[in-house]
Amino acid sequence: MKRNTKSLLKFFLLSAVTVLITVLIFRIFKSANYIEQAHLVGIIHGAEPEESRHVDHIDNEKIDWHDYERIKRDALRKGPGEQGVPAYLDQKETKNYDELYKVNGFNAALSDKIALDRAVPDIRHSGCKTKKYLKRLPYVSVIVPFHNEHWTTLLRTVVSVINRSPDHLLKEIILVDDASTKPFSKAPLDNYLAANLTKARVIHLPERSGLIRARLAGARQATSDVLIFLDSHTEANVNWLPPLLEPIAQDYKTCVCPFIDVIQYETFQYRSQDEGARGAFDWEFFYKRLPLLPDDLKHPTEPFRYIIKIGSRNTFLYHFHGKG
Ligand SMILES: *[C@@H]1O[C@H](CO)[C@@H](O)[C@H](O)[C@H]1NC(C)=O
Repeated sequence: MKRNTKSLLKFFLLSAVTVLITVLIFRIFKSANYIEQAHLVGIIHGAEPEESRHVDHIDNEKIDWHDYERIKRDALRKGPGEQGVPAYLDQKETKNYDELYKVNGFNAALSDKIALDRAVPDIRHSGCKTKKYLKRLPYVSVIVPFHNEHWTTLLRTVVSVINRSPDHLLKEIILVDDASTKPFSKAPLDNYLAANLTKARVIHLPERSGLIRARLAGARQATSDVLIFLDSHTEANVNWLPPLLEPIAQDYKTCVCPFIDVIQYETFQYRSQDEGARGAFDWEFFYKRLPLLPDDLKHPTEPFRYIIKIGSRNTFLYHFHGKG
């Protein structure tokens, strides 16, 4: 009996020591791991982990960033594709249709008929329309790589970003021409931007480099704290920028991603994709969208915590029609 108690005690003592040591080892490992991760994030975003940047020292004043003048003007716009309504070509306008469709994979002839500064419907969650964001937000450089993008869809990307961004937050738009062969992509584009859209400029890559290297080429020339990567046939919606920038202002290591709406390739109709989803990959690395978790559904105007995005439109430090 006595011996049994003794060995039982010994057993418990041994177990306790084992648990303690395991916890200790785990703690040490975890903190080492954490430091490594923090460094990695710092390197990706070109920031020293210890560096204190102005975006770290924010005051918490929030303001309404909506540009109500522009919203009012946009609401009055009429014409093909305005308000994101499906548009169509007339019989006599269809002569380029097939040729342009083949080259671009969408109805580029119709794009030429739609205004570069068309109005798109504000399809955000109604709670976003009254939401305020930090008054002090970092500046952004928008980087748009392209290869043989059709000229009006490319220019519409630039125009919509300029028109729907607060002027002082948008420092520059850098188009990266990944060795396009369309004549418009060279001097005519340079001249058009220099004459009409002076915030934008083009880097012409001498040889085909692919999406990622084109993005990096743009990033190297960017001069803002925050880089936003966009596709070359996108349109920014109302108040798209502040919701993307606020999480970065609060923690510069944040990588954000927008809601991606849909521009229909045949009619240029503008509509939502869904009410948001979690990005994920399946076992074959195909991108999947999973339903949101109950906690996210309770806060539809707050950022969701998933940053996995489909490759072509992903981003470091960015967001789009914004959550909010
Ligand atoms: C500037 O924009 C106007 C109107 O779209 C266009 O007619 C003109 O050719 C542009 N300027 C240049 C240099 O491309």
